[in-house]
Amino acid sequence: MSKWRPQQIPTQQGRLAIITGANSGIGYQAARYLSRAGATVILACRNREKGEAARVQIAASPPAANVEVHLLDVADLESVRRFANEFLNEGKPLDLLINNAGVMAIPERRTTPQGFEMQFGTNHLGHFALTGLLLPALLRQPNSRVVTVASIAHKGGKLNFDDLNAERGYDPRGAYQQSKLANLVFGLEFDRRLRARSAQTASVIAHPGVAVTNIVSNGMGTGLKGRIANALLPLVAQSDIRGSWPLLYAATSPEAHGGGYYGPDGIAEIKGTPVEVKPKPHAVDPAAGKRLWDISERLTGVRYDALNS
Ligand SMILES: NC(=O)c1ccc[n+]([C@@H]2O[C@H](COP(=O)([O-])OP(=O)(O)OC[C@H]3O[C@@H](n4cnc5c(N)ncnc54)[C@H](OP(=O)(O)O)[C@@H]3O)[C@@H](O)[C@H]2O)c1
Repeated sequence: MSKWRPQQIPTQQGRLAIITGANSGIGYQAARYLSRAGATVILACRNREKGEAARVQIAASPPAANVEVHLLDVADLESVRRFANEFLNEGKPLDLLINNAGVMAIPERRTTPQGFEMQFGTNHLGHFALTGLLLPALLRQPNSRVVTVASIAHKGGKLNFDDLNAERGYDPRGAYQQSKLANLVFGLEFDRRLRARSAQTASVIAHPGVAVTNIVSNGMGTGLKGRIANALLPLVAQSDIRGSWPLLYAATSPEAHGGGYYGPDGIAEIKGTPVEVKPKPHAVDPAAGKRLWDISERLTGVRYDALNS
């Protein structure tokens, strides 16, 4: 079978996409491709200037369709509610939501405005809340999709149910691994619940392999080791452009299906072209999915009433 290329993205004319954290890295590249294919793209960014700079860059390389910047801080549940309410008030159906924004390996434990550990709060809880609030606009649109961005890092992750917010001990890497495992567990549980309702919306999960982006470069630190690692990174990793391909495949390919997990086909899934890849067994455990779901509803105060039995 021939390898997937972005030229295979079907026309996105008439489709509306929201991408969180779309001002840089793989989210920005995904926005660029989707816009070129004709989608209206909402860049959901926490910093207006950065969002505007990304919008201008996308618009400068035609054919770019309609691209808008909307303010969203995924770490702040008030901002998530404001963003979702503004969108729902416009009454538009939503074709595609890409839960992409993320932070990685913050050296010291920090918390979100609602008091959650920053990586768990941003990468998982913020997107859990956003998806739940936007659910009415997704459910009424046939063939709508939610793509949640996970990571190879989920493999070493553990959902520390007794201390999800790392109040009793904080490990920057462990907290990132947990948050990315949570992305995957959420995406799979969301798929189970959508299927149980025969919904027309699909929950799909993707990871970019290892891509040269801000999150990775900043995560290496500024010390000698970090500078060496940053210099060597492009030798082993792929570009942000290639890193966006699994997201685009998950978002647009007729072959991608609800509950599917997509990443690069190379050694250790570090780089390559998008294929379906296998999550670790602990990510597909429905009991963990249900437990995380219930806790996430309680912590965020966002209930997925249309899907809960
Ligand atoms: N690059 C990789 O190798 C790799 C591997 C596995 C998974 N991932 C995942 O890929 C996703 C995108 O990361 P990237 O690699 O493209 O890095 P990136 O260039 O740093 O992009 C991260 C984006 O998320 C935004 N963001 C962070 N916190 C936010 C918040 N509270 N509210 C709204 N936006 C926020 C950032 O905005 P600012 O510019 O304002 O900070 C930025 O636009 C992340 O979920 C990451 O975990 C990346």
